[in-house]
Amino acid sequence: MAKKFVIIGNWKMNKTPAEAKKFMTEFKKLHTASKDKIAANMKFGIGAPSVDLAEVKAGKLSSSFIIAAQNMHFAENGAFTGELSAEMIKSVGANAVIIGHSERRAMFGETDETVNKKTIMALKKGLLPIVCVGETLEEFELKETKKVVKRQLAAALMGLSHEDVAKVIIAYEPIWAIGTGKTATSSQAEVVCKYIRSLTSEKTIIQYGGSVKPENIAELLEQPNIDGALVGGASVDPKSFLKLLTLNK
Ligand code: PGA
Repeated sequence: MAKKFVIIGNWKMNKTPAEAKKFMTEFKKLHTASKDKIAANMKFGIGAPSVDLAEVKAGKLSSSFIIAAQNMHFAENGAFTGELSAEMIKSVGANAVIIGHSERRAMFGETDETVNKKTIMALKKGLLPIVCVGETLEEFELKETKKVVKRQLAAALMGLSHEDVAKVIIAYEPIWAIGTGKTATSSQAEVVCKYIRSLTSEKTIIQYGGSVKPENIAELLEQPNIDGALVGGASVDPKSFLKLLTLNK
């Protein structure tokens, strides 16, 4: 069976709805022109600010297009000022949600425990959870990558059945490689993704993230345990995003 690939853009806090609409229009044109360069087993989508989700949905290219929110609360509803629930993000078009991104862990108090609760809620609501794990530069230098990733994964997936683990996307994002231009080498990324495979399921989609660009995507995706990428900087421009999907062809 051919490997499935999943590439998801993470716009982070970029683009107003008008800008999201412009992106989707331009991306659609580019996609139509180079459709034959994108592998049939390539799934893709965008992680957008919540206010942009409706525009991303309006411009989506197919029913398999992944429309991800970048966060959500783990409760059904309640007194959580400023938060959004799973039902809310679904109502404006999301079919997926990024959970536990390192920026949320470092700056907004996301913990292993909240990542677990959010993952459980996403699955309950039929949203595809994209769970991020990864070590800091200090942990990397202390050779603690596997230890950290194991702890984060065990916590994130606690209480999930093997069947549910197969439904989650795990994005391995070494923090030292995010937005820094320093990509883990494909063999470094493969070692950790292989380890993640041993802790999850044969069917779990495992992405690499951290300074993925059109120039390095093909080499990363050639690795046996890297099934795709979560891409920040190189996903905000439609031309660059398309080049990721064609593996820079
Ligand atoms: P980057 O971000 O591609 O800009 O390094 C990746 C991410 O944070 O998901």
